[in-house]
Amino acid sequence: MLAIRLTAGPGRLDTLVLPVHTGAATDGGDAPATLAPTGSALPDGVSAEAAALLPAARLTGRAGETYRHLRPTRTPGRLLLLGVGEGTDRHWRTAGAALARAASDETHITLALPADAAEGTVRALVEGLLLASYRFRMTDAGERPALAEVELLATDPDGYRDAVDTARTTAEMTRFARDLTNTPSSVKNPQWFAAQVEAAAADLPDLHLRVRGPEELAAEGFGGILAVGGGSASPPRLVELDWRPADARTHVVLVGKGITFDTGGISIKPVPAMKLMRKDMAGAAAVVAATLGAAALRLPVRVTTLAPLAENMVSGSAFRPGDIIRHYDGTTSETTNSDAEGRLVLADALAYAARELAPDLLVDLATLTGANAVALGKRHGALYSENDQLAADLLAAIDAAGEAAWRMPLPADYLEHLGSDLADLHSSPDRGAGSVIAALYLREFTGDTRDRWLHIDMSAPSWADGDDAELTRGATGWGVRGLLRWLGTLS
Ligand code: BES
Ligand code: MN
Ligand code: ZN
Repeated sequence: MLAIRLTAGPGRLDTLVLPVHTGAATDGGDAPATLAPTGSALPDGVSAEAAALLPAARLTGRAGETYRHLRPTRTPGRLLLLGVGEGTDRHWRTAGAALARAASDETHITLALPADAAEGTVRALVEGLLLASYRFRMTDAGERPALAEVELLATDPDGYRDAVDTARTTAEMTRFARDLTNTPSSVKNPQWFAAQVEAAAADLPDLHLRVRGPEELAAEGFGGILAVGGGSASPPRLVELDWRPADARTHVVLVGKGITFDTGGISIKPVPAMKLMRKDMAGAAAVVAATLGAAALRLPVRVTTLAPLAENMVSGSAFRPGDIIRHYDGTTSETTNSDAEGRLVLADALAYAARELAPDLLVDLATLTGANAVALGKRHGALYSENDQLAADLLAAIDAAGEAAWRMPLPADYLEHLGSDLADLHSSPDRGAGSVIAALYLREFTGDTRDRWLHIDMSAPSWADGDDAELTRGATGWGVRGLLRWLGTLS
């Protein structure tokens, strides 16, 4: 990962990056950009030269705008003007991402922070830099970004150490979630996923990991995970990862859907719907990465993460449409569509959490339905909770982190859709409102934690079709940033 170094005086000065703001709008149209005053001493004449460029180059200062100016034989040899818009955190994150791309062919750059830069500004800038420079390739061939180090020039570098450390951990964990999600399913089976968690957890103190295999799952009654995983040659797992700091007063349980590949099962998906189904464990990746992040940042909140892992395959041992499944808490589900598999594994994990872990707050993330994108498009997760405070807190954290979610209803009128003649619940009614129905189904397993539970259907924002600000094509690591921000507000 790109190195970020805070300094009061640059070690070397090849390319100097100067932030520019949007000018105040006037009646005459777009005002020219203005240079952000830096507190640090710059080489003679550089500020005046940059200021003169702004109108000449018709820069607006909008977030992510870049302009390169060459000064051969002088120091620095290049000036890079970087638009930071109105200077909001979101604009700085976008600027950091644009900078990582604009400077990808250089090895070392120096950015002069504005004199009055807030900690949030620096955190956002660094997150943008580290997230946009992410690449996933399973080959060493091809070009890689050359950019190895970004120096941040500040009058008081120590004031930003925490901001940079937090941004680095947040980005590192987001990148870990992206790696897990991008990995092809020929590699990524449940056992492999559990081994990745084990390796990552071994690097951090005070994390406890328990991985249940098929025998333990059977002995303890995890019927949903076993049914969904039954068709695969790679048997299911349940990962339980616990960050348990001594000073914690709140216990959060996170649950993430971990389908390492979703063929749809016997209710098989058509080709276009199946081709990206290696991402169907993005929820598990996000909650695991957020928990590792909580441990790395030593957040004073207990976090237990549950990742039910299974591969939903077509085979002679696959579960069938019409099967009735008995979940961890004894609830039975009639399933007429083996493609509604995520809720079956989550049901077990939620019931286990509610019964055995007595959480103060219970949050699950899942690439649960295609209906998420139908309702909200590609950017917003669909967020469900009966708890207004919890919903508001998470929405605020997600927004501050640069992610997006939208609160959805849990209408009592639709509960009748979950009725079954044969079992306690029907898991896959085909009556529309797919994301809402799935949320209502999950709620049935939350027991007396129901009023402290929150669910996010994040199938849409878990994947980006192209590079876009801090997102790179492929897995986005959605949820890691928002969850970490939120966990950081708890104690
Ligand atoms: N993994 C899919 C949901 C999904 C779809 C995620 C598109 C990402 C992109 C999930 O298991 C699924 O197949 N859901 C069905 C539910 C239906 C059978 C009730 C769906 O959304 O069609
Ligand atoms: Mn499915
Ligand atoms: Zn699925």
